[in-house]
Amino acid sequence: YSLKLYNTFGVDAKADFFVDANNITELKKALVFRRQKDLPILFIGGGSNMLFVNDFKGLALKLNLKGIEVVNEDEDFVYIKAQGSENWHQFIQWTLTQDFGGLENLSLIPGNVGTAPIQNIGAYGVEAKDTIVEVQALSLETGDERIFTNEECQFGYRESIFKNELRGQYVLVAVTFKLTKRNHQLKTSYGAIQKELEGEGIANPTIQDVSAAVVRIRESKLPDPAQIGNSGSFFKNPVISKDDFEKVITQHPNIVNYPAENGVKLAAGWLIEQAGWKGKRFGDAGVHDKQALVLVNHGNATGKEIYDLSENIIQDIKTKFGVTLEREVNMIF
Ligand code: EPU
Repeated sequence: YSLKLYNTFGVDAKADFFVDANNITELKKALVFRRQKDLPILFIGGGSNMLFVNDFKGLALKLNLKGIEVVNEDEDFVYIKAQGSENWHQFIQWTLTQDFGGLENLSLIPGNVGTAPIQNIGAYGVEAKDTIVEVQALSLETGDERIFTNEECQFGYRESIFKNELRGQYVLVAVTFKLTKRNHQLKTSYGAIQKELEGEGIANPTIQDVSAAVVRIRESKLPDPAQIGNSGSFFKNPVISKDDFEKVITQHPNIVNYPAENGVKLAAGWLIEQAGWKGKRFGDAGVHDKQALVLVNHGNATGKEIYDLSENIIQDIKTKFGVTLEREVNMIF
């Protein structure tokens, strides 16, 4: 079963078994099958954060759980439960047509609702965790449902409990968000957003204006997976200690950096561009020419080729800056 259509990198990896699940009952059935055969399992949502380095020797399960419902509301807030397979951007577009605020900065991020919490997707000063109330999950072992509160998800920068302690133990089937019905809290301090709004002559932006600005910024820098295979940022922005930072900045005075909780955050895109990788191409595996943090598949690159490229970049950045880059995308070995 080719998985090419199910990963935004467009890598032609194969899975031994492939099943669709259109509801919880079908999902539970598939989990029983998997337990009986003792197969490794892989959930495919939007397929926007995975790189198949090899074929998958197990059961690939394509989830198709749809639905959006208002579960509660008061004068100021609305609580919306979205099923895991709702497309993330389309879901945000729906919230904006209802004039519900909070997700506008996260417009156009590839993927589905159910995968957003796993790596706590974020952009332009907002993270998914800011609006997530709870996550509904199903245990792969027992098929039992469990609710994780926001706190229990242990969210961090591109992190959650589902990537760490509970990795591979639960599948997320629905997410509940708390959004504003009025007094929307706009987050427009991110430079690129300000510039975009000013350029449009918008002094008092609405949440819809912010979303439109984000869409334009992303479209100008980030490749559309429908045209060039990619998974967004391939690496995380590394956080280094203040001491290490003092050393790096003496040698690289222009290094792009931001304050972080436990040190200094560096722009990985800057490091990779400075090291000369931006726009480079090796066969069909390459580094995007407008944003060096994004690795791309120009057509028929294998997962292994993209992985090897990422490995070479990591080594080179280590040599040139003494900084170790970490991958953000999930590697499927
Ligand atoms: N930069 C370069 N060259 C590049 C890319 C970036 O020099 O090729 C420098 C620039 O100085 C720029 C700075 O890096 O000012 C930051 O770049 P950018 O605003 O594009 O953001 P980023 O730090 O590279 C992060 C997220 C993106 C998110 C943007 C906007 C991570 C790993 N990535 O990228 O998220 O859209 O901020 O908030 O945190 C994703 O996770 O898939 C993703 C696209």
